Amino acid sequence: MNDIVVLAIESSCDETSAAVIKNGTEVMSNIVSSQIDIHKKFGGVVPEVASRHHVENITLVLDAAIKEANCNINDITCVAVTKGPGLIGSLLVGINAAKAFAFSHDLPIVGVHHIAGHIYANNLVENLEFPSLALVVSGGHTELVLMEDHNSFNIIGKTRDDAVGEAYDKVARVVNLTYPGGPQIDRLAKSGRETYKLPRVMLNQDNYDFSFSGLKSAVINLVHNANQRNESINIENLAKSFQESVVDILVGKTLKALKNYNVKQLLLAGGVAANSDLRARLQVEMKNYSHIKLIIPPLKYCTDNAAMIGVAGTFAYLNGVRDDLSLNGKASLEL
Ligand code: KG4
Ligand code: ZN
Repeated sequence: MNDIVVLAIESSCDETSAAVIKNGTEVMSNIVSSQIDIHKKFGGVVPEVASRHHVENITLVLDAAIKEANCNINDITCVAVTKGPGLIGSLLVGINAAKAFAFSHDLPIVGVHHIAGHIYANNLVENLEFPSLALVVSGGHTELVLMEDHNSFNIIGKTRDDAVGEAYDKVARVVNLTYPGGPQIDRLAKSGRETYKLPRVMLNQDNYDFSFSGLKSAVINLVHNANQRNESINIENLAKSFQESVVDILVGKTLKALKNYNVKQLLLAGGVAANSDLRARLQVEMKNYSHIKLIIPPLKYCTDNAAMIGVAGTFAYLNGVRDDLSLNGKASLEL
């Protein structure tokens, strides 16, 4: 069988990225140009600014990915691109670049759901086996996704309000940490102790749904009350207390699902999958589930990157997914 070589593009938020992926497992190149330093001074991603930087960077990133892969353009099977969800202006930059490349080289286009990409990052560690359960934790999503086969996603639980990454970023802002707050809270938590009592919202409910806005508000109220009383807050301890609550909830709900669904693999996916306590706790807990293989992507494939879109695009292509020049971006899009 011929190799399947996918040129992939991701531009849904604040990373402009292009990658070349062979057979859904081999990363021939993965170039990521991050705009984090640009958005930092605004305390979060400014959509219009993000679009402009994607426009400036997309051809440079694409050229670099093709050059680094050292592949012949004639060997490329298709172009995969994130079609949503995300910032519409940002998505359209990637989609238009994908269309231009596909048109000029007469290649098929495969539109990929951003979260499918995050889940398929796990296939770079080990081939996915089904059924498998994915814990998806990113800036926009918190979901438990059951996969019975390639390209089949069944959301069995999701957040009813904030995504976990969003809660991290908002909590970080209230204690004056720069965007994105998740990695900074994670770093501070390493030297903190759990001294603040914070809620585990919905943990004991008999479902697989999440809620993080109550936890976020509890932290914000705690900080505001301390400020009003002129009391100081120990930021390391607050970071650790918040993170323990988050990890208890995420891991608790995941284990609940594992008791009821007979899966072969547990996959961790999304930017918050980079979190050190979440990774460590899952590794410890999963020792009690020796029949289920825990897969966690390397840090570079947890936050946004085109390699994961290339892997998901490979399996979508093999499943017959084809888009054409009418492909449009969708700011919100069901998995
Ligand atoms: O998946 P991602 O790169 O973008 C989205 O698709 O949303 O996730 C970004 C989110 C941000 O909220 C960021 O604060 C969070 O992932 N994040 C972390 C860590 N690294 C990134 N949250 C907690 N701990 C981390 N180490
Ligand atoms: Zn993402």
